[in-house]
Amino acid sequence: MKRDDEKNRRSFLRTGLLGAAALTIIPRGLRSQSACDTTAVDFYGLGPFYSSGAPTRHVLASQEEAGTRLFLNGTVYANDCLTPLPNVILDIWHADDSGCYSRFEDCENPTQDDYKLRGIIRTGSEGTFALETVKPGHYLNGSQFRPSHIHLIVRHPEIEDLVTQLYFEGDPYIEIDAAASRPDAAGRIIPLEQGEAGLYGVFDIVLNVSTSGVEAEQTTSATRLRQNHPNPFTAMTRIPFYLAATQKVEITIYDLQGKTVATLLHKQMQPGSHAVEWNGTDAEGKPVESGTYFCRLTAGDLEQTRAMTKV
Ligand SMILES: [Fe+2]
Repeated sequence: MKRDDEKNRRSFLRTGLLGAAALTIIPRGLRSQSACDTTAVDFYGLGPFYSSGAPTRHVLASQEEAGTRLFLNGTVYANDCLTPLPNVILDIWHADDSGCYSRFEDCENPTQDDYKLRGIIRTGSEGTFALETVKPGHYLNGSQFRPSHIHLIVRHPEIEDLVTQLYFEGDPYIEIDAAASRPDAAGRIIPLEQGEAGLYGVFDIVLNVSTSGVEAEQTTSATRLRQNHPNPFTAMTRIPFYLAATQKVEITIYDLQGKTVATLLHKQMQPGSHAVEWNGTDAEGKPVESGTYFCRLTAGDLEQTRAMTKV
C-alpha cells in the first residue's frame, strides 16, 4: 500500500468510527427506489460459512490482507425509509480476495474461532454504520461462480433476524446467480466508487420496524441537518437542512483535524426547507484533497454534524 493510501485509509477509518457513533450517512440507495421497500432476505439464506460470536470491530481485514480495500457505510432505517434506527446489530462475514472464508488452508470449514473477515457492528445514535475490509472474491458454487458478496444478519428486537447479502454493480456473475439475480435483490446491489485508498460504497438497510416509539417527529418538524447528496461526491454536493423557526444559521465544513475548511452560510433564515451547495473547495477557492469532511449546522442552540466523502 502506498503511503498516501495509508494516510487516506486512516483518515477514513477515523471518520468511519466517528460516523458510526454520531452521524447519518447517505440514503442514496433509498433515493433510487420508487417505493419504500424493506431490505429483503437473501434467497441463499445463511449459507455454510457463518459462525457466531465474531468480534465487535469496524475493520474486518488486517492491513496485510490481500485484495482491494473496501469502505462501506450506510444507515439502517425503519419502514418509513426515513427514521434511522440506532443500536441495530450487523453481524457481517465474507470471503477473502481469493474467495475463501477461512484463514486456514481448508477454507471451506471455518472453525468457531476462525473469524477472518468477520465482525459485529452496532448502528450509532443516528442509525449509521461504517466498516473497512477488502472486496470479497468470487468462489465456485457448484459449477458456477457466485458474484462478490457480503453476508450479514441484521438484528433488531422488533423483527426476526434479517439474513441477507450485499452485491456490487457490474459483477458479471450477478445475472447467473440464483440469489443475486432475483428482483428482491435489486436494492442490495450497490455501486462502488474508486477512491484513493480503495473502493467506497453505501448500503442503506430498511427494516420492517414501525416508527411508533421512534422519534418520528424529529424527521419532519424539528430543525435538522440532512445528508448531503451525492455522497461520495467529486465536483459538487448539495446539503439540505430544515429550520423549525427563524434562526441565525451557520454551516461550516471542517476536516478530520477539526480545522475549518469553508463557511458556506452565516445568516438569519426563515423556517422551512433550505439547501446549500459545496463545490469541494476551501475558503480560498482551492480544491480540497480527497477524503472525509464534516459539515456542521449551527442553528440557535442546536448543533448537528454529518460526514461527507470527497473522492
Ligand atoms: Fe458466501
